[in-house]
Amino acid sequence: MTNKVGGIIGWVDSRLPVIEFWEAHLSKYYAPKNFNFWYFFGSLALLILVLQIVTGIFLTMHYKPDAELAFASVEYIMRDVNWGWLVRYMHSTGASAFFIVIYLHMLRGLMYGSFKQPRELIWLFGMMIYMCLMAEAFMGYLLPWGQMSYWGAQVIVNLFGTIPVIGDDLALWIRGDFVVSDATLNRFFALHVIAVPIVLLGLVVAHIAALHTVGSNNPDGVEIKKNKDADGVPLDGIPFHPYYTVKDIVGTVVFLFIFALVVFFAPEMGGYFLEHANFEPANPLATPEHIAPVWYFTPFYTVLRAIPNPFWGVVAMGAAVFILFLLPWIDKNVVKSIRYRSALYKVNLFVFLIAFVWLGYYGVQAVTPTASQMALRLSELYFLFFAVLAIYSTRRSAGYYIMWFIIFVGLITLYDVFRNNPEIAELTWKTWIIPVAYLFVTLIGAAFTNLDQDKPVPERVTS
Ligand code: HEM
Repeated sequence: MTNKVGGIIGWVDSRLPVIEFWEAHLSKYYAPKNFNFWYFFGSLALLILVLQIVTGIFLTMHYKPDAELAFASVEYIMRDVNWGWLVRYMHSTGASAFFIVIYLHMLRGLMYGSFKQPRELIWLFGMMIYMCLMAEAFMGYLLPWGQMSYWGAQVIVNLFGTIPVIGDDLALWIRGDFVVSDATLNRFFALHVIAVPIVLLGLVVAHIAALHTVGSNNPDGVEIKKNKDADGVPLDGIPFHPYYTVKDIVGTVVFLFIFALVVFFAPEMGGYFLEHANFEPANPLATPEHIAPVWYFTPFYTVLRAIPNPFWGVVAMGAAVFILFLLPWIDKNVVKSIRYRSALYKVNLFVFLIAFVWLGYYGVQAVTPTASQMALRLSELYFLFFAVLAIYSTRRSAGYYIMWFIIFVGLITLYDVFRNNPEIAELTWKTWIIPVAYLFVTLIGAAFTNLDQDKPVPERVTS
């Protein structure tokens, strides 16, 4: 029997080098031996990708991409199709789980400097994947044709209308009609089930191919390829298979346990995973009182709302995503891992995370003067993170830090004066202190203390 299997493998291998592939990418692919918790999320993202494709195929068998029938077909899946409710809840929960996992995966990249030389391309492919995921989620959300599907799409497509000169025609071209309609639903369906997933799969292959070319980073940010034994095997490396295939099974089981808890006990997640208004069929004549995107878009949605002018709001929102692409060229500090970076770098990253989550919170809140003001301040913190990161890229002088402090505080103050809105003057100046205090700590702190000093990086991985 073993001989027969060996024979079949040999037959295939002489025509297609499967064994070579297995060795190059698994059994003889050496990964750093010190991967920790944060290294589960790449394989979990792969798992969810497969889960979304499989559940999506089954949903497509029963769903009708027609404005007259779409909502009812989803209800039919939920009530009449055998296990349809499970497939649908797995798909809707999978969308949110995908973003949770991807945000943690990206955070790991930030913490360990995994986007830095020589891994810039891995990061760029990752960012393209992220953009595709946002497009995929946005178009998927229109398909149930509920109130929020309809009005959410209306609001987002109208954003394209704010672009000068071409905006109106562009929005018309995207919708295929003057308002979101059956034509929009049809094209979003085609893009959601076939076009974007194909691009996504291609990008994931490119992402992993780029990763396997240069090898993984690790929590110490030490290049394991620099220390090899006589056979050319990295001293701090272990074969991906069986060590990490087995370890990833542990992560997968824990993930599936939590995933099942949500699918079976809280699939709507209090209106965050499936919004309440989406249980009503789309009604083009009745705008819901409160239109909010799904949670994973809300940080960027708040950046959009932070600027009163719609066009500049769209520019700010686009810039908030685009700036992430530039990270490898913004943070050029040679120390990769957060473990060996300065105390002030840690403060900077921590404030960024708080700002990002807080921006997300304001995205689901109603617009009030305080919320708008906070949206602006948190957006300022979001962008200042990158500026401070660039300033920390190499060791600078006290004068350099002070110069940038004056420039940034000046720009923030100028914008507040330029806005000159007497109705919110008190609120403006009360919240002005937020970005200024942040700049004081990160820049003046760096000028007058040694809290901006990185620690020495070890030659070999530590654990
Ligand atoms: C469908 C989505 C994605 C999948 C399936 C995926 C898959 C993977 C896998 C399997 C790894 C190796 C294991 C690991 O390091 O965790 C990895 C590494 C990496 N990914 Fe992704 N990824 C995705 C999205 C992204 C995104 C959106 C970014 C960032 C914008 C990103 C950035 C990175 C980086 C920088 C690494 C190298 C990490 C290191 O070596 O420390 N990935 N990815």
